[in-house]
Formats: sequence, structure tokens, C-alpha cells
Amino acid sequence: MQEKIRTLTDGCKKLIGGCETARALGELRARILGKNGELTALLKGLKDMPDDERPTAGKIVNEAREALEREFAAAAAALESAELKAKLDAEKIDITIDSGGGVGSLHPLTLMRRRICDFFTAQGFTVCESPEIETDYYNFEALNVPADHPAREVQDTFFITDKILLRSQTSTGQIRAMEKMRPPLKIISPGPVYRSDDPDATHTPMFHQLEGLVIDKGIAMSDLKGTLDLFAKEFFGENSRTRFRPSYFPFTEPSVEVDASSGSGWIEILGAGMVNRNVLRMSGIDPDVYSGFAFGMGLNRITNIIHAVRDARIPFENDARFLRQFG
Ligand code: PHE
Repeated sequence: MQEKIRTLTDGCKKLIGGCETARALGELRARILGKNGELTALLKGLKDMPDDERPTAGKIVNEAREALEREFAAAAAALESAELKAKLDAEKIDITIDSGGGVGSLHPLTLMRRRICDFFTAQGFTVCESPEIETDYYNFEALNVPADHPAREVQDTFFITDKILLRSQTSTGQIRAMEKMRPPLKIISPGPVYRSDDPDATHTPMFHQLEGLVIDKGIAMSDLKGTLDLFAKEFFGENSRTRFRPSYFPFTEPSVEVDASSGSGWIEILGAGMVNRNVLRMSGIDPDVYSGFAFGMGLNRITNIIHAVRDARIPFENDARFLRQFG
């Protein structure tokens, strides 16, 4: 009897291990433990046994049955979770957006801004960002552009209220720097500016500028020239030189338009000049003691020149085919 049970149990365990589906397992279980199952038959046969053997045999059969029940239950649970997993895997939905198969990268404008900031900080300039939403005072008044000044027309500005506007130039950063720091000072102020221009190949209503301001005793036009010459060599090639053309800005006197030479000729890169005495005075700096120069370059313009981007709108279009080239 004991022998018979062991053979049956061992055989059954092997078969359980071989079952690959819950259904096969169920069929096996019925064959062994079901109403007409092999073990059930042994259990039924107990009643024909001699009285003295029956209790031991009964104990053995029942133990075997319980052991097999446990085996079946464990195997059923394992199969069920495997089947569930397979089902879930098959139904898996990818909810992530297709990134186009690439990692993002910094925008060419950001890269250029960083390069230019690094260039100036290496020469002792401090980066001073200033607000994009400004008051009339910082954008115009303090820059020597009084209420009726025609220069307000040129930079048709986005006004929020009569006195609050989106800055049209980073020159606002000059005033804020002079308010916070006493000379000698040497700062750059990069960031977005806004003008109500219709977008075309050379205009976008928002673009980035980078302002520079140096104030100390004895600062002269030659200091401006030296600083910008170094800039031109760094960004337009070792043989690049700068050319100053007379110009006009209310906040500088004299004022210049600056061109840099590159392989293909002269390209206009920025406006600059010696800080107007009125501007220094309004910011509480004595123009008889201190002098300074200021410049303001279009970061978009510089970036587009260097990368030969022909249309000013392209960098704002978020076209991955364009952006990917700078990663
Ligand atoms: N703010 C001027 C512009 O936007 C540029 C400039 C800056 C000119 C500093 C002179 C000095 O056109």
C-alpha cells in the first residue's frame, strides 16, 4: 500500500511540474483526486481492508491526498500569475510620447549665450540679469529718452499699462546695475527683449540681446575698441577686426555702430558708445569723475550669422531637424 501511494504521488508530482496551462493542471487533478481519480479509488478501497490495517493505510492515503492538494494549489497559483503576466505583457500600452528617437539638447541660442557670457566673465565681467517686465523709467527715461523723444517710436513697444511694458532693450540692465553697484563696474546683462514687429526674415517680436557696461575712472573709446576687437577675434576668427561707424543712441555719446570683418566682408554686430553724461548723472554717478562704455548686441543675430541661419524665424519654430544639428 505504502509503495503504491509513493509511486502514485511521485508520478503525480512529475506530471504537475510538466503542466503548462491551468487547464492541463485541472485535468490532471481530476484524474488523480477527482470523483473517479486514482487516489480517490485508493481511498474508497480502504473499506475493504482488514480492520487492523485500515487506520495506518487511511492515514497514509489521507496524508498523500493533502500533500497532493497542496502541490496542485501551488502549481495553479504559479500558472495563474504567469498567465496573467503574459496577458499583461501582450496588452502593454506605451503611454510615452515618441521622442523621435533622440535625447534633447540645448538650443543654439542658449549655447551661444553661454559661450559669450563665458568669454566676458573670463575678462572680469559679472553677469547681471534684469527684469523682462519693466517700467517706463528703466526702458526710456533713465536711458535719456524722455516722454516726447522720437526714439520711442523706433522701438514700438508692448505696453502693459501706461507705465509698465515689456522691455525693448537690455539697456535697462545698465540702469539697474548702476543702481545696485558703485563704480568701478563691469557687467553684462543678457536676456529676451520685445518689440511689436511683424515676424519676417530679419524680425521676430521677441529676441535676445546682451548688454555690456564698463564704468571706471578714465574709461575711453579705446577700451571699447579693445574689448570688441577681442570679441570679434574670438567669435569671427583670428583675423577679424572691428570697424566703428558713427551712429546715434540717446544713452551714449558718441555712439557707434560696430561691424566685424569675416571672410565674406563686414557684418554689423552691435550698437555701442560712451555712456551719456546724463545717464551717469541720473544714476547718481558723477560724470566728471567717471566715464564708461556700453554696448548691446543681438544674440540671435550673432548666433544666426555664425551658424549661417538665413531666416530669423527658424530658431523659434521648434523644428527638431534644425535643433538637432547643435546637440
Ligand atoms: N540698446 C541698443 C539697441 O537695442 C543697443 C545699444 C546698447 C547701443 C548699448 C549703445 C549702447 O539697439
